Amino acid sequence: MKIINVVGARPNLMKIAPIAAELAKDPGAFDQLLVHTGQHYDQRMSRLFFDQLGLPRPDIDLEIGSGSHGEQTGRIMADFEKVCIEQSPDLVIVVGDVNSTLACAVTAKKLGIQVAHVEAGLRSRDMTMPEEINRICTDAVSDYLFTTDRLAGENLRREGIAEERIHFVGNVMIDTLERHRAAAKELDLIQQLGLEPGRFATLTLHRPSNVDRDILVGILEALRAIADDCPIVFPAHPRTRKMIDRFGLSSHFNNGTEVKGLWLSEPLGYLEFLHLNMNARMVLTDSGGLQEETTVLGVPCITMRPNTERPITCSEGTNVVVGNDKDRILAAAKRVLNGGTVTGRVPEKWDGKAAERIVDVLKSVIAAAQPAAQTGAPGQ
Ligand code: UD1
Repeated sequence: MKIINVVGARPNLMKIAPIAAELAKDPGAFDQLLVHTGQHYDQRMSRLFFDQLGLPRPDIDLEIGSGSHGEQTGRIMADFEKVCIEQSPDLVIVVGDVNSTLACAVTAKKLGIQVAHVEAGLRSRDMTMPEEINRICTDAVSDYLFTTDRLAGENLRREGIAEERIHFVGNVMIDTLERHRAAAKELDLIQQLGLEPGRFATLTLHRPSNVDRDILVGILEALRAIADDCPIVFPAHPRTRKMIDRFGLSSHFNNGTEVKGLWLSEPLGYLEFLHLNMNARMVLTDSGGLQEETTVLGVPCITMRPNTERPITCSEGTNVVVGNDKDRILAAAKRVLNGGTVTGRVPEKWDGKAAERIVDVLKSVIAAAQPAAQTGAPGQ
């Protein structure tokens, strides 16, 4: 089976890495290529992760870069179409919900190539999120829908997706976390930064809906109040960094070498950030994957969004969704700092073996196709 694995944005890398590693164990069955769309291109958003995650260098880099949604998605489609025609794969694997996911899934399907979507069926029911549109469209055209939890499967069935296309395999992001947990624990970054375990917080903030000026100012005021009691390490996404500069908000941050208050840093590597998160008192975020990682790490997570496509992280994990209102963010953080405990459990099949299950499904597809191929039956 000839497979093209697609990555584009930073969170795709942690999801493809375990799948590529698992496919590589059986080179007789799988011939794989890695295509990077170049949606994320900064060294710290991309290259660094290949090294840390042991991902091979992309075979093809489309170098698409930034742009409006239409421009970015369209450019990826045009270039990925050429790759598909030239390479003629049997299957394209896409992960997550970014523009690269949608663009490559639709392009492959229109060429009659089978598509597998890893992390299918997540729904926020919020059509103002570009990611929700990407999820729905990608799932609609995919042949293999690999889900992280049972609710995702139910979402897909409700949308009319046939049962045989849905495979509940667990969470590949957690495969990567489990693979690197010990190495991340060994780092001495918190000592280097002068931090103590359980006495600081980490922050990610990059959603367009949160980095709009007025909302960003409100969030920063809440964060500064929290940081008076508990320093916050903030490795800023390039977009957020640009907004901070554009709106003249840098006085909210401590940009010096000593970590105190709200401390701004460059984006961190996977291992460094995992190391900080596993030692943090809490994580404040608007990202998707971090809600899942904190659930497995047992670290309280405060999600600064009006909703989540990952409700299992609230019902079973350590996540609370508070929106972007200053008072609600502050109140949630105070509850954690005042000793409020969150008890969660690790969701079913978030056990480090999701990629293995995905590859097992693909092997069964090959096995099912073989007798017909050998007898030269049509339709193969
Ligand atoms: C994308 C995903 C989002 C995901 C996030 C993870 C979509 C619709 N969004 O958002 O779901 O949570 O990745 O990080 O696909 N930029 C750089 N350097 C880079 C990449 C981006 O400076 O390497 C800046 C540019 O100003 C760019 C902006 O960030 O315009 C946004 O990048 P883009 O890829 O459009 O979306 P993200 O916000 O990163």
